[in-house]
Amino acid sequence: MRPRGGAPRYDMTEKTILVTGGAGFIGSHVVRLLVRKYPDYHIVNLDALTYAGNLENLRDVDQAPNYTFEKADIRDMGQLQAVFSRYHPDGIIHLAAESHVDRSINNPAAFVETNVLGTVNLLNAARQVWKDAQEGKRFYHISTDEVYGSLGDEGFFTEETPYDPRSPYSASKAASDHFVRAYFHTYGLPVLLSNCSNNYGPYHFPEKLIPLMINNIREGKSLPVYGDGQYTRDWLWVEDHAAAIDLIFHKGRIGETYNIGGNNEWKNIDLVEKLCDIMDELLGRPAGSSRELITFVKDRPGHDRRYAIDAGKLKDELGWEPTIRAEEGFRKTAKWYLENEAWLRRILTGEYQKYYEAQYGV
Ligand code: NAD
Ligand code: DAU
Repeated sequence: MRPRGGAPRYDMTEKTILVTGGAGFIGSHVVRLLVRKYPDYHIVNLDALTYAGNLENLRDVDQAPNYTFEKADIRDMGQLQAVFSRYHPDGIIHLAAESHVDRSINNPAAFVETNVLGTVNLLNAARQVWKDAQEGKRFYHISTDEVYGSLGDEGFFTEETPYDPRSPYSASKAASDHFVRAYFHTYGLPVLLSNCSNNYGPYHFPEKLIPLMINNIREGKSLPVYGDGQYTRDWLWVEDHAAAIDLIFHKGRIGETYNIGGNNEWKNIDLVEKLCDIMDELLGRPAGSSRELITFVKDRPGHDRRYAIDAGKLKDELGWEPTIRAEEGFRKTAKWYLENEAWLRRILTGEYQKYYEAQYGV
């Protein structure tokens, strides 16, 4: 099924790149970057459109002649084979996943099915389609810093940090990373991996911390901070992640892993207070008024205390660094959500609403 774009109207293709999960948060930024930057590439966006997939995220590029959308599920090998035999992709950038830790605690099996089995299906489909010629091909798997577990007050995750996943989500991502590396060693599949810290920016689904807080501040609802609020995350502007993905896909060394991070650590409570202050200013509310909405709630089970990335390898080898600093990025994000209320409304009236009620009981 192709609700957007169309079949083979693009015949000047230098390369066909299959992006999975392109209707999600990070995937939509990756698709937008590739469609605009490489007019001679054909970008095929394969996405099952789960609760987290939203084609509206791509409204500004979905009529481009080098873009095609394919609704397909990576859990379904038949659907994958059909897409692979239609397009014969030269490269795969794999972002499709169940991505929310709290959902993984409620339903781990869904994370095994999509993140582990779905990734293995995709690896098998790539092996099949590239069996006669692997030259120039690339299977790029997008992963997370959560596979490394939890840090104390000191230190950073490097590419050599042993895996120690602690949530069903991170366990499923760790398993998928292992399969990708196994296909490199066992079958010589040309793979690349990256493990990134927390992303933020436009089109972030409002179950995640930053958009959830921005929306609740706007609506004057309580701001649920898990546990003592002293948990630390390393926040990266999503377009900086998309730029890193573009660079690693084109210039990264086959078989290698690259860590990507924002060098931008925030304790959750400090971040929520910062968002309150930015929103008070943007909404013309009295300074400090939104902070009164902060409510400490029951902690997430197995909550990882601190994540922090050492992105030195990516900087040294490929020259990548984050470009957007914290204050600027948080402000841009808050403004985007205020200016795109209709996007948010449509999500809040859908299945998300039911999930929200189950999670927070309101
Ligand atoms: P997201 O939940 O916003 O988007 C996931 C996308 O995958 C959606 O469009 C969804 O429809 C699609 N999808 C889910 N199951 C599918 C299936 N079975 N078949 C086909 N498509 C399916 O996720 P995100 O935050 O954009 O994350 C994208 C990737 O980046 C994930 O692999 C995630 O693990 C990784 N990652 C995310 C972050 C972050 O901070 N968000 C950080 C590091 C790594
Ligand atoms: O580190 C990369 C990971 O970042 C990605 O792999 C995941 O896909 C992505 O969802 C994100 O995981 P986190 O669990 O870190 O993100 P989340 O936005 O769910 O939570 C961020 C922090 O805020 C975490 O310490 C839990 C806390 N939190 C979250 C929510 C939703 C709260 O205190 N209250 C909340 O309501």
